[in-house]
Amino acid sequence: MSKPKNIWKEFFKDKKHGGHRCSSEGFLAMEAREKLYHLDGGSTLLDFGCGAAELLTYYAQKYEQLVGVDFSQSMLEEASKRIERKKCQNIDLILADHETLWENLDTSFDRITAAGVIQYLTFQEIDAFIVNSSKYLNKGGKIVLFDLLDSRLYPLWKIGLFSRNASCLSILHKIGFEFRTIISASLKNHPKDILGFAHNPYKVEEIANKHGFRMIYVRSMYYEYKYHAIMFRA
Ligand SMILES: C[S@@+](CC[C@H](N)C(=O)[O-])C[C@H]1O[C@@H](n2cnc3c(N)ncnc32)[C@H](O)[C@@H]1O
Repeated sequence: MSKPKNIWKEFFKDKKHGGHRCSSEGFLAMEAREKLYHLDGGSTLLDFGCGAAELLTYYAQKYEQLVGVDFSQSMLEEASKRIERKKCQNIDLILADHETLWENLDTSFDRITAAGVIQYLTFQEIDAFIVNSSKYLNKGGKIVLFDLLDSRLYPLWKIGLFSRNASCLSILHKIGFEFRTIISASLKNHPKDILGFAHNPYKVEEIANKHGFRMIYVRSMYYEYKYHAIMFRA
């Protein structure tokens, strides 16, 4: 039986940006500073789902050797242009997904990270990702997963509860809109939510613990409904 098509591969096949709240260099630099704080050192880094290298090129200023991985050719083309423009000579790019990545690696890393990517994996795929990452993580290394969607907060954000002008009417309107969007996406076999799946941090922590990692989770500074999962060997 042939493998079912990955809807996310299809979705990202012609995308060119990581969908940050703001695409200005000023905002990307702020996001990268927050992430570098949590990455907290090391000299080699793997960025899974690096997209157009919008964060990776900032990480490159602090790491000796970096590898960016993505399954979208168009994203990697943008990444190459950005890397050249920013004259980062310490980044290699690999076209691969969460399954094929590992057979392409010939070295291990101090940090394995991903920003805004883990929500495109199911719990089962996250489990496999952590098992594989642990094989390519240097002693004292960390797996740092940024900007996962918090299943407790994301639905509230979606219906506008955090917005400046939230009212009963606007919330009811948004609930109706979300409902229609989900039905229409299901009928067309499109992703129900382009931001991916929301994962409860405690369930992600269970996976980390199962594989011998301790995990702390912290709120994202720039996205109210996202969190970061920082894993290190117990
Ligand atoms: C929201 S973008 C974030 C890009 C980048 N990390 C950033 O913060 O600018 C998500 C990226 O993950 C990639 N991606 C999603 N699922 C993936 C998978 N299973 N394997 C490889 N790349 C994946 C997409 O192609 C896309 O470039």
